[in-house]
Amino acid sequence: MRTKGFDIAIIGGGVIGLTLARALDDRGAKIAVIDAGPAIPPATRAAAGMLAPSFEYGEEFGGPADAVYHLGACSLSMWADYAAALEEETGGFVDYRNNGSLGLAYRDAQTAALTEQALRVQSLGGDVEMISGDEARKLEPSLSGNVAAALHAPKDTQVDPRRVAAALTASLERRGVEIIKARVLSMGDGDASHHFVTVEGDSYEAEKIVLAAGAVSGLTPMGLVYPVKGEAAAIAGDGVITRVLRAPGAYLCPKAEGRVVIGATEEIGPFDHHSVSPAAIAGLRANAARAVPAFEAATELERWAGLRPGTPDGAPIMGIDEKGRYLALGHYRNGVLHAPATAEAVAALILGETPPIDLAPFSPARFSSGRDG
Ligand code: GLY
Repeated sequence: MRTKGFDIAIIGGGVIGLTLARALDDRGAKIAVIDAGPAIPPATRAAAGMLAPSFEYGEEFGGPADAVYHLGACSLSMWADYAAALEEETGGFVDYRNNGSLGLAYRDAQTAALTEQALRVQSLGGDVEMISGDEARKLEPSLSGNVAAALHAPKDTQVDPRRVAAALTASLERRGVEIIKARVLSMGDGDASHHFVTVEGDSYEAEKIVLAAGAVSGLTPMGLVYPVKGEAAAIAGDGVITRVLRAPGAYLCPKAEGRVVIGATEEIGPFDHHSVSPAAIAGLRANAARAVPAFEAATELERWAGLRPGTPDGAPIMGIDEKGRYLALGHYRNGVLHAPATAEAVAALILGETPPIDLAPFSPARFSSGRDG
């Protein structure tokens, strides 16, 4: 068997692996991306593309929530330029939208929870405010009269993750970065290199290796990244809503060509990327229609499932493991949001530069037993 060699091999063809490859190519490294293909699609394919640090920073897990918030805010601030550069380079379209999002409440308890969240995000430096139901309806006239209050995050943005992935792939192809469609079967480590063999029977060697394969079992270090399945659907709703709505039990994201993505369920495990339950979609649709009654009878365009890469403390894992492998995975519900900042930080780490963000809170060492802090 002939072994092919690279400076850096990135295992994982989702948004984290692709943005990292682009950042490393910017710095002149010879890289290959190993992408498992449609049988094991990345979480990116299922994602809604909400770029919303104010809503998803893992407070509930008791991990480094402040650091996750700041990672998200930093990456959010990069997205406008990142999307524009990607489109200019490739001629693609990533459907970047910058008109904010609304978290919705119907009942007092939901308003109280959103108010607490707004205060927490404000304390972290975020630009959010609570508004009344009527103020929310001024922004989104199709909202139900039952919406009593909303958390308005005017700086939140969104992209279409599938379009982003297509543009990233086009960018890497133009640059001559090799994207190998293969599934890694086993990995080994030599003194000065890492090697791996694919299910397809090929053998590769790389001076440095990056694990960016999300929830793919068997590749993740120490079993720390686990699948959190999400099911979602797209309905037809051209012009009904203009910004991301986060209602109790469903979020609604208007996209190009009149699609509205409605997501998403959460189920820890199973390792099932594909099956979608009619009951799950019916539940999401009912919750979406409660927020926007005009969607009650909207035509369904598509339904799908995907696996988020969850971690025990809700924070991503970025750093070097005990085998000298670089890790960029476990971004859970925020892979698309976190991608530009992750790519810059991990590329810098790999090449011996100072990362532009502090990666200490995301180190895999935080899970090692006996570690202080
Ligand atoms: N960030 C949205 C989701 O994971 O469903």
